[in-house]
Amino acid sequence: MIRSPLMTVMTDAVMKAARSLKRDYGEVENLQVSRKGPGDFVTAADRKAETILREALEKARPNYGFVMEEGGVVEGSDTSHRWFIDPLDGTTNFLHGIPQFCISVGLERDRQIVAGVIYDPVKDEMFIAERGAGAFLNNRRIRVAARRDVGDAVVACGIPQVGRGSHPRFLKELAMVMGSVAGVRRMGSAALDMAYVACGRQDAYWERDVQSYDIAAGIILVREAGGFVSNADGGPDPIAAGSVACGNEILHKELLDLVKAANR
Ligand code: IPD
Ligand code: CA
Ligand code: CA
Ligand code: CA
Repeated sequence: MIRSPLMTVMTDAVMKAARSLKRDYGEVENLQVSRKGPGDFVTAADRKAETILREALEKARPNYGFVMEEGGVVEGSDTSHRWFIDPLDGTTNFLHGIPQFCISVGLERDRQIVAGVIYDPVKDEMFIAERGAGAFLNNRRIRVAARRDVGDAVVACGIPQVGRGSHPRFLKELAMVMGSVAGVRRMGSAALDMAYVACGRQDAYWERDVQSYDIAAGIILVREAGGFVSNADGGPDPIAAGSVACGNEILHKELLDLVKAANR
């Protein structure tokens, strides 16, 4: 598989940031931790990785804008291109020594996500996708699962923090999904949840209260792997809605039907 120049820029930046994250994961007990809100942590590792990503991407594409979890929005002179950066998706796992976290970088062109990279530094798994070029895990083509029966499906979710508006609603949706599928997972990294749908490890996934940088790269990965992505209510734009649902064509629809039924 030959990587495009754009993909090389993205994967090089991500690998550089990953080296920093791995070093910090090895010394997590010494990291400075602060709280952005209840149960919402940020560490020096998040900030360092974000700075590395931003500097590397800015060097390669000086005019593009940024939407970053820690640094916020930075407009570029090229207003049609923006990077969506989550330097450490799964901070809670990272802090607890749970090896399920990643770096996620998506690129938007003219309001469409056209490229995405999600890298898990512990398992050394690099998920990449570019519009029209397919989705890959460590250079091998990936596809969403072919499973058709919702009763056999493993469905991932994200649990909203207590106090968030969507919490009561989520509990109803969870009860409905739990009653219909083979298993529910809460792995703790939205980006990896989408990457796992893209490669067929998980059959479907939904979450409310997600941010653009949590899901941008995942959106293109799932679509390029043959999957369907919408917001959690079936609408077309998960980033605008701040919620997401995805899976293969059949299980995506089944999941949306369950979520809808829970809210009736
Ligand atoms: C969080 C993770 C988690 C999801 C939350 C996100 P962070 O991102 O993706 O799985 O449930 O909605 O905020 O804060 O670890 O980057
Ligand atoms: Ca965070
Ligand atoms: Ca995140
Ligand atoms: Ca993060």
